[in-house]
Amino acid sequence: MKILMVCLGNICRSPLAHGILESKTKHYGITVDSAGTGSYHIGEPPDPRSIEVAMMHQIDISDQRARQFQVSDFDEFDRIYAMDRANLRDLKNLARNPEDERKLRLFMDSDPESPFDEVPDPYYDEIDGFKTVYALIETTCKKINTELKDDI
Ligand code: 4NP
Repeated sequence: MKILMVCLGNICRSPLAHGILESKTKHYGITVDSAGTGSYHIGEPPDPRSIEVAMMHQIDISDQRARQFQVSDFDEFDRIYAMDRANLRDLKNLARNPEDERKLRLFMDSDPESPFDEVPDPYYDEIDGFKTVYALIETTCKKINTELKDDI
């Protein structure tokens, strides 16, 4: 099973979702990757603030490099999680057929109890915004991990 996490820049939110879910699933054969819908940061490491908050939780995401989502990712991945509705809309616009569309999920839909229905973009926030986003992504990744275990 291959999972792809997608945000806009692939430097703040989806690298966290990638690192956190990977830390929970690598023991049982799930592959996790991330990408951005935009091209602004291709080749860059995650934002230093995302690296820092992940490190506070013993998760090292510093080796990740940003890449842009490709239509071929629909062939490569089984489930594709969008961090917000704008990302989801952009991905839907790239879907070639109903099979591609069926792979798309809104990330926060896996945590219906959360007061958040999207992962807010922390890019223009201070480190506290990144801490909030980390907590949100961590809780939702726990739920996704349970969903995946139930499904395989
Ligand atoms: P991300 O955050 O989508 O969580 O990686 C952003 C990073 C960069 C930009 C926007 C959002 N930007 O406009 O450059």
